[in-house]
Amino acid sequence: MKNLDETIVRGATSSTKTKTEQFYDDVITGLRSEQKHLSSKYFYDANGDKLFQDLMNCEEYYPTNCELEIFSEKTAELCQAIIGNGDAFDLIELGAGDATKSTYLLQYLLEQQADFTYLPIDISENVISYLNVTLPVTLPGLQITGLNGEYFDMLEKAASLSNKRKVVLFLGSNIGNLPVSDAEDFCRELGNHLSTGDMLLIGFDLKKNPKTVLAAYNDKGGITKRFNLNLLERINRELNADFDVSKFDHYPIYDPESGACKSYLVSLADQQVKINSTGIIHFLKDECIFMEISQKFTVAQTDHMANKAGFKPIHRFFDSKKWFIDVIWLAE
Ligand code: AVI
Repeated sequence: MKNLDETIVRGATSSTKTKTEQFYDDVITGLRSEQKHLSSKYFYDANGDKLFQDLMNCEEYYPTNCELEIFSEKTAELCQAIIGNGDAFDLIELGAGDATKSTYLLQYLLEQQADFTYLPIDISENVISYLNVTLPVTLPGLQITGLNGEYFDMLEKAASLSNKRKVVLFLGSNIGNLPVSDAEDFCRELGNHLSTGDMLLIGFDLKKNPKTVLAAYNDKGGITKRFNLNLLERINRELNADFDVSKFDHYPIYDPESGACKSYLVSLADQQVKINSTGIIHFLKDECIFMEISQKFTVAQTDHMANKAGFKPIHRFFDSKKWFIDVIWLAE
């Protein structure tokens, strides 16, 4: 996602705010709460995107490689499950990014002459124009309609473009960045945008040795720390704030019982930060800002989530270490 522009966003209320106003309101509300918090959805400006790329290439961060292994080694099985009885379908990817994993599917589906259109959805206009231009070159014959915007708005748009069966990809355990009850609500809402027989292919990071999980969010090279601190720098850049990032440290924890891996930034001093001249935030020494949850699941929990959200789990694909799972759920 690039810098926030002045695009109008419509909130739960009917009031209209620019993206920058919404960002400011979310930051101020989060930092004035009893437990200070910021939303990890704001990690991904241009710097955050770059840091996340670095993270995906770092030794300790295993989820990307595990899911890549599934997509590269089990391509045929995944595609056969998606193709089903051969009806034409729309393959919709939420948060497509550079589409590295889905390219395995696209290539194979083209080889099989499957009748489908690829509709990547991303909040970043850059991502969508990049995919619209590059994929038809690397994958000749691919029908692609990139959709730039919020997931649910773009799902509605996709439904208005064709009445073909929908297969939605939601990869990378992005679902784990929502607290479990919000993740269930999100999947239910997703189901509300689909029809009976449509599919969701969704990736979950599984519970594993707690040391392995914690190391992935506490890499020795300090990329995760910079990834978290970048949000403070983004607030400085875009909301005219004066965070001194050298006065914050990164603190990740993993609770193997609940499967919640959480990241905090710890204030290293009593300090105050000014945001856009009007918002003054006080930090006590050792006070923490909650930054992100990266939830880990058991397979049974993924089944439970499917059932609660109105889907039926029909296929499971594991990597060789069984650290990650991609599941196919049928909309009921
Ligand atoms: C995007 N998301 C699934 C990543 C995760 O593992 O929660 C974001 C991330 N945060 C720190 N490292 C990676």
